[in-house]
Amino acid sequence: MTVPDWLALDRAHCWHPFTQARTAPVPLAIVRGEGAWLHAADGRRYLDAVSSWWVNLHGHAHPAIAEAIAEQARTLPHTMFAGITHEPAARLAAELVARAPAPLSHVFFSDNGSTAIEVALKIACQYWINQGQKRHRFLAFEGGYHGDTFGAMAAGRSSGFYAPFEDWLFSVDFMPWPQTWIDKPGLDDEEAAVLARLDAWLDRHGHELAAFVFEPLVQGASGMRMARAPFLRTVCEKVRACGVPVIFDEVMTGFGRTGRMFAAEHIGFTPDLLCLCKGLTGGFLPMAVTLATPAIHDAFLGDGVDRALLHGHTFTANPLGCAAALASLRLFDSEDTMQRIASLEAMQAQRLAALASHPLVSRSRQWGTIAAFDLVPAGAASAGYGSASGRALREAMIARGVLMRPMGDAIYVLPPYCISVADLDFAYGQLREVLDELAGADSRGVGATDLF
Ligand SMILES: Cc1ncc(COP(=O)(O)O)c(C=O)c1O
Repeated sequence: MTVPDWLALDRAHCWHPFTQARTAPVPLAIVRGEGAWLHAADGRRYLDAVSSWWVNLHGHAHPAIAEAIAEQARTLPHTMFAGITHEPAARLAAELVARAPAPLSHVFFSDNGSTAIEVALKIACQYWINQGQKRHRFLAFEGGYHGDTFGAMAAGRSSGFYAPFEDWLFSVDFMPWPQTWIDKPGLDDEEAAVLARLDAWLDRHGHELAAFVFEPLVQGASGMRMARAPFLRTVCEKVRACGVPVIFDEVMTGFGRTGRMFAAEHIGFTPDLLCLCKGLTGGFLPMAVTLATPAIHDAFLGDGVDRALLHGHTFTANPLGCAAALASLRLFDSEDTMQRIASLEAMQAQRLAALASHPLVSRSRQWGTIAAFDLVPAGAASAGYGSASGRALREAMIARGVLMRPMGDAIYVLPPYCISVADLDFAYGQLREVLDELAGADSRGVGATDLF
């Protein structure tokens, strides 16, 4: 097959995310997805080892989700969600509440992970206003990433993505994120130091704090940086003891990625606000939700609209997205997805352990189905997003038919849950060969053309 004519149209008119258009390689021209594979216009296929930016759960073009969307499109593709409701939204809200940790009870719909965060931050602000207080301080962890709208950028400002916008971001205070990889117990000193610092900070500022927001267990975009559950539970309990809402950004970790349906279950703590997105529709349609507890929701009740949450999006609770999400949740039951997740977790652990002694592999780490390591010799410092070797690895893997997207020298494998043993072995086999090649090569001088 030849290069499709629409590739020239892409070059002329499409503005791709996180990409330097002048130096970026020609994008892969994908025409079809099936299971864990993406098929390109030139007849090649690529194993999707990143679940298409962490969204795909059950496989591309899963017929059950495709059919649910088609059926919904024939019935009611869209209607506004103010003054109107529809069955897919009501059923989805109930399903999410049933699966989320208690007492989360109410669901606010939006379109993407950033807006799910934006909604949570705005709810937190107005929660206090509705009680006659203005609270301007937010607390987050260093390195957290929460999206690209302004509130989300402010909460994630320390991730280092936002240099051009710094002057427009509201101020947020940050605590260090102890990267206590779960295969290395015993870094308690680092955790204890953060807890002491948090105590001191809360003593001074707890009464001014509007909310605390973080990615539970795994900071995704800053390089799959993993922390331990008991530490995070203690942090959350300290914040809650001040009466301050805790927001979990489970945009990436939700829907089984860390081995449980929600990372909150590992931590043993129910947040006041829970943000979900990527896996919500099984990776088919853009939709996000912010779940709230009765205490948060009820703080918005009153006689006047001034106490209501004056926020909404044109496509709030779009029925197609709701239908896709309901179909995805049904698959969790009919395909026993949690069991698949457990098997994938075990397979990832074995494959990662087999790579751990490679001279270019350090800090190998895993939470559930997410496996990661740094592409640096043991003891060497990470070069972060500037790393040329991560890009070299990505290009070599794509040439071998595996779609990976290292974040600097943080390499991760985060496949759809439907991936077969043979396909996972294929990915790791290629990865080992590429690591061997890189160990013998000099990949300096290749600049970064994109991020994330
Ligand atoms: C933890 C987390 N929060 C928020 C976002 C933003 O989501 P979106 O890209 O859908 O706006 C992302 C995106 O990767 C994320 O990983």
